[in-house]
Amino acid sequence: MSPPLVRNRITALFGIDHPVLLGGMHHLGRSGLVAAVVRAGAMGFITPRSFDSLDEYREDLRRCHRLTHERPFGVNLTISRRPGFNADVPAWIDIALEEGVRHFESAGTSPEEIIGPIHAGGGILLHKCPSVRHALTAERLGVDAVGLVGLEEGGHPGSNQLSAFVNGAVALQRLRIPLVIGGGIGCGAQIVAALAMGAEGVVMGSRFMVATEVEVHEALKQRIVSLDEHCSISILGTLNDTWRVMANETAREVQRMEAAGARSHREFGDLILSSRTRERVYRGGDVEGGIVSLGPAGGFADAIESASTIVERLMEEAHEAASRFMGSMDFADRPVAPMAGTGTG
Ligand SMILES: Cc1cc2nc3c(=O)[nH]c(=O)nc-3n(C[C@H](O)[C@H](O)[C@H](O)COP(=O)(O)O)c2cc1C
Repeated sequence: MSPPLVRNRITALFGIDHPVLLGGMHHLGRSGLVAAVVRAGAMGFITPRSFDSLDEYREDLRRCHRLTHERPFGVNLTISRRPGFNADVPAWIDIALEEGVRHFESAGTSPEEIIGPIHAGGGILLHKCPSVRHALTAERLGVDAVGLVGLEEGGHPGSNQLSAFVNGAVALQRLRIPLVIGGGIGCGAQIVAALAMGAEGVVMGSRFMVATEVEVHEALKQRIVSLDEHCSISILGTLNDTWRVMANETAREVQRMEAAGARSHREFGDLILSSRTRERVYRGGDVEGGIVSLGPAGGFADAIESASTIVERLMEEAHEAASRFMGSMDFADRPVAPMAGTGTG
């Protein structure tokens, strides 16, 4: 395993060797994938919305404990903006705490209602959001860390039109709590760039879609391996529900319908339903047949391999990039500050 590259507030908060978080993945964030990432020294989040029942979710947390050999792993709380879709959120938190989970990632809407129960149960919360304004609000509400994503994010990056690096740089001028950035990050050099900027880690997703532990049809992984950084397009921006997805026939059909004036989710029928994606694409292997969350970071996926190999490759690339960068810096004409306790008197 690559030696740790940095130790900072994020690695301490999550008890990890590498400053890499695999964010929640609807339908895919299950114990096999999460445990593989955790065993490789990074952090992953089980995504409760992926399970058909609370019992199935609880059972997967127990399985994850067995697979990680009791190393910490997390739970993602994606809170929907659609009324009636959040009834299980309190139970997701209770069950996670009962099962010994202490690390949470939230996304979707304000974390106001969930911070209290998480902190009362001894947990920590990273809130993931798409704008600096939301990040500052989350800090004020008392979250422990922020994940700020740019428009490159696979999934739902919000309507902001700023890249992860612009968002991140602006946020770092104003935030006090630790920040990770996400969106478009698919190689180790980008991780070093994020750290050099002052972020204390990255949140990733698309790069891991080809991991052997991701429970989708092999045909989808092969398709992603064959794609480059132009693999994604953005849909549903006209409904204020921007979604970055794999460029395929279904996504183009949705774009055509938007261009023709469709302005409510209902008008797209089952084209945009995750149940369709699960059946046709994830299980059936019809890679044109449904919407798949994916960002340009998917273009870095060049082989179907285990999640631990992906983490390992990322960290090897990061070490190489860091050495190159340090080697290129000119320290010669700069005075070196004396270290405490080494004064010559
Ligand atoms: C297939 C897929 C499903 C996702 N599902 C969720 C989700 O349910 N909840 C969530 O908070 N983020 C979700 N995300 C976003 C990721 O957690 C992460 O923030 C994002 O992938 C980072 O950007 P990147 O894809 O450019 O690496 C998903 C991403 C992908 C690719």
